[in-house]
Amino acid sequence: MKILTVIGARPQFIKAAAISHGFAQYDAIQEVLLHTGQHFDSNMSDVFFEELGIPKPAYNLGIGGGLHGAMTGAQLAGIEEVLLHEKPDWVLVYGDTNSTLAGALAASKLHIPVAHVEAGLRSFNRKMPEEINRVVTDHISTALFAPTATAMQHLAYEGIPAERCHQVGDVMYDAALLFGERAKQQSTILQQLNLIAGEYVLATIHRAENTDDLQRLKIILQSLGEISQTLPVVWPVHPRTRKLLEQKTLHGLLGNKVQLIDPVGYLDMVMLEQHAAVIATDSGGVQKEAFFYQVPCVTLRDETEWVELIAAGWNQLVKLDDTNEVTQTILGAKLKTSTAIQPYGQGNAAVKITSYFREI
Ligand code: UD1
Ligand code: UDP
Repeated sequence: MKILTVIGARPQFIKAAAISHGFAQYDAIQEVLLHTGQHFDSNMSDVFFEELGIPKPAYNLGIGGGLHGAMTGAQLAGIEEVLLHEKPDWVLVYGDTNSTLAGALAASKLHIPVAHVEAGLRSFNRKMPEEINRVVTDHISTALFAPTATAMQHLAYEGIPAERCHQVGDVMYDAALLFGERAKQQSTILQQLNLIAGEYVLATIHRAENTDDLQRLKIILQSLGEISQTLPVVWPVHPRTRKLLEQKTLHGLLGNKVQLIDPVGYLDMVMLEQHAAVIATDSGGVQKEAFFYQVPCVTLRDETEWVELIAAGWNQLVKLDDTNEVTQTILGAKLKTSTAIQPYGQGNAAVKITSYFREI
């Protein structure tokens, strides 16, 4: 069976690392990797292939940047050409990026079944590009691999036939188990940045709803600046956010103590997460990693798809309309619970997904 996997953005490389490893165990599965080029800086792309042992993609379309329509449209055309040539039995897509939507659309128009990993997540905020991408992808997929029971409920509620939906757990948990220990052994990032374990805040911000809303972005910057007067703050800056900081000359709002660094590889990121006092983020993946490593997390958004962590007290949302409240929430963040929950499965999502393809 030939599976063509479409990836393009940072979190998709990490997810693919777990599943491609699963596929590679079986001769009967031939995986062809297609990288759309959505993320292209070496620290947003190459580093993950090198560190996590992901095979070099057979195709890289080099299509990144630009407006949503232009990017998604060019990816759609490029993927279609490859699909016509490769004639795969399945197309596999991850998550909710423009690359996900382009892959799913290109395949479904050619009547190639689509498998969607991380199906069923909803923020119920249709202003998020990701919400549109994931809803459309779910509705044109043949196999939907949901990470959680809540995601399964969303799919049922939207009328997607139950036989297409499979609760397999979260592939990010697989990745955390596969690489978490290696991070401890290999990463020297704490020494490089002069950080003391348990005595810094780790921040990441890249969501359009935060970066493209000047008022919200200013509140985040002012808050991180205030926090850095009390506790070191380290922030690996996503290129989207870096561009806005530069275009709008916003660095002044941060003061001079926040450590702004370039995006780091996965092992360094995991090391930074494992030893942070608090994580402040708008990333989907980072919210869950905070939970995996039992680090208090404040999510800088009005809502999240990962509702289990909020309900159980492992994560908290903070609205971005008052700098002082954001600062106090981050500085005061403590684990509100030690209750063990396991909403993301057993760390064997890749095994379950691989089995699905072996058994059909
Ligand atoms: C994308 C996804 C988002 C995901 C995130 C993961 C969409 C709509 N959004 O957001 O769901 O959470 O990836 O990180 O697909 N850029 C660079 N170098 C790079 C990558 C991007 O300079 O290596 C620039 C682009 O040129 C663009 C900006 O950053 O100007 C944003 O990139 P884009 O891929 O459009 O969206 P992300 O914010 O990365
Ligand atoms: N990540 C990384 N280096 C960084 C920032 C994040 O390796 O500098 C990892 C992080 O550990 C997580 C994933 O990237 O596994 C999350 O990606 P991102 O926040 O870009 O996207 P999202 O999960 O919000 O879609």
